[in-house]
Amino acid sequence: MDNKTSKSSIETVMKETRVFSPPTEFTSQALIKDSKSYQELWEESQKNPEKFWQKEAESLHWFEKWHTTHEWKEPFSRWFLGGKINVAYNCLDRHLPTQKDKLAYIWEGEDGSVRTLTFQQLYEEVSQLANALENKLGLKPGDTAAIYMPLVPEAIIAMLACARIGVAHSIVFAGFSSLSLKDRVLDADCKIIFTADLGYRRGQTLDLKKIVREAVAECPSVQTTLILRRDPTTQLSKNEIDWNTFVADQSRTHKAQPFDSEHPLFYLYTSGTTGKPKGIVHSSGGYLLGVATTAKWIFDLKDQDIYWCTADIGWITGHSYVVYGLLANGATSLIYEGAPMHPQAGRIWEIIDKHKVTILYTAPTAIRAFMRAGDEYVIKHSLKSLRLLGSVGEPINPEAWMWYHQIVGKGKCPIVDTWWQTETGSILISPIPGVTPLKPGSATRPFPGIVADIVNEEGKTCAPNEGGYLVIRHPWPSMLRTLHKNPERYKEGYWSRFKGLYFTGDGAHRDEQGYFWIKGRVDDVINVSGHRLGTMEIESALVSHPRVAEAAVVGRPDELKGQSIVAFVTPRDSGEKLDIKILVQELKAHVVNEIGALARPDEIKFTKTLPKTRSGKIMRRLLKDLASGKEISGDTTTLENPGLIEIIES
Ligand code: WTA
Repeated sequence: MDNKTSKSSIETVMKETRVFSPPTEFTSQALIKDSKSYQELWEESQKNPEKFWQKEAESLHWFEKWHTTHEWKEPFSRWFLGGKINVAYNCLDRHLPTQKDKLAYIWEGEDGSVRTLTFQQLYEEVSQLANALENKLGLKPGDTAAIYMPLVPEAIIAMLACARIGVAHSIVFAGFSSLSLKDRVLDADCKIIFTADLGYRRGQTLDLKKIVREAVAECPSVQTTLILRRDPTTQLSKNEIDWNTFVADQSRTHKAQPFDSEHPLFYLYTSGTTGKPKGIVHSSGGYLLGVATTAKWIFDLKDQDIYWCTADIGWITGHSYVVYGLLANGATSLIYEGAPMHPQAGRIWEIIDKHKVTILYTAPTAIRAFMRAGDEYVIKHSLKSLRLLGSVGEPINPEAWMWYHQIVGKGKCPIVDTWWQTETGSILISPIPGVTPLKPGSATRPFPGIVADIVNEEGKTCAPNEGGYLVIRHPWPSMLRTLHKNPERYKEGYWSRFKGLYFTGDGAHRDEQGYFWIKGRVDDVINVSGHRLGTMEIESALVSHPRVAEAAVVGRPDELKGQSIVAFVTPRDSGEKLDIKILVQELKAHVVNEIGALARPDEIKFTKTLPKTRSGKIMRRLLKDLASGKEISGDTTTLENPGLIEIIES
């Protein structure tokens, strides 16, 4: 995230909104239901965040207690110094005496098959893998492992086995191309890759091992590929090991070792405005505390809940709210490997009824797609098990919010609209469902212990309803620690825009009640279906094609996906006749090959030249207007040659 900002994000906004008080049937059972004492706790936590977090940290298991709660050497934050912890122990072993037979995961495949794992079974599977990694491969604390897997229990088993032995995992979403996988594996020096031969989605089989093989061929650090064979006829190549054979002879118990609270738990690569994706580094103790506390308070977790977060583990939402935050609370989660609208648009509702899901956490893009498919798919199902709904990843428009509330939640389920980022590790702004009155489209207020603010260009707090930049004033436990191998970019990207404040890259305003309304990115990051992409990354992919001289990518508002990807391309004159239609197909395929299908441009426009200022900067604002079919607005006097924005093909 860099410091490029656009003026449009800081306009003043006025909104009229309905307010929904928490429904009585929810409040009467809620974990946090006394508004007055919650408000007092919240106020106190704003004055003294350390005190709040320190108290919450007592509920985790520590092998040794910390001596210092927080150390801040700007911009580097460390929490629970001297404390020794094991994240996997907190997620598994700690629960065994009281709930070993409780389900940790219910997995459903797209074909309807179901697999379940109790906490005891999960512990045993994790132990076997941890033992094998230590005994057979000699993996040790400080090593790094890549995970490129479909959403099957083994993916979670791999995460926990790594956490258990102090190996940092780096999960790469199994929709990224082999080139993206290679870049991430090389950057993190991974010694091993966990994968499966196949994944299943929308009735199709994805050949994951092929992608992994292409990547590994160029990754000297990788010594072993561990393959979960879902097709028994899959042949293994050199340095590939069959998962089941690898673990079969290992003990089903494993003694977890204590690690420093600051020991890195994982790296997760995410897009910024410049350069290649950056490796966000998360800690053990602080991260676990952030996700465990927020999961419990925001999802109001109870012993009998069946919780379903539809995210893939390849994203931060999967890390924090499919795995660590939920297991730390001993909760039961459903995971589903497949598309929520396959083979029919009501699949998601069918699954909720089948497994009696009580809490659903999904993205606005998905909600809008369900809404578009039609109410009939929803009302066909009872959905009476649902008691709480969540939204994450992008702003939710009030229409989608209302539909989610009325049609899915039948007006009786609060909606927690949760704002956070890969960097924040855990949710920072969200309602607490039993006490926070809701306003459709607002993530409401910061979580206790989170000191959020909205500031203007000069870093001064904005007046109510004045648009500005969302910042965090005080470090929090689950904050990213740095960028892997790149502390300078960490400082520059997050801590240089406003002195002493963490800059989120989002534009927002706050209303008279202190409710936050987040508008989305003010930098060159775009959010397509809740997936974060850097426009620069897509531009680099485009210019690596021989027929492209220059490219600029912008986001265009999209009713369904939030934003869609529009690329402006100046073709290179090769002397050959240009067949625009073929080139469009070729360039889309090229981007898919370079990054992955999620970065495929929705539209490519060819121009003779790109609009630039006299100093050579591409005028993105103008391209954004062009992409969304708007009149070109604002000042174009600095444009080098306004006449040259000529679209060759529309
Ligand atoms: C956006 C996803 C509005 C925001 C957890 C942020 C949201 C980026 C919300 C981070 C929300 C996430 N309302 N915008 N409730 N949640 N965002 O790293 O622009 O994939 O900066 O983390 O998503 O995306 P990331």
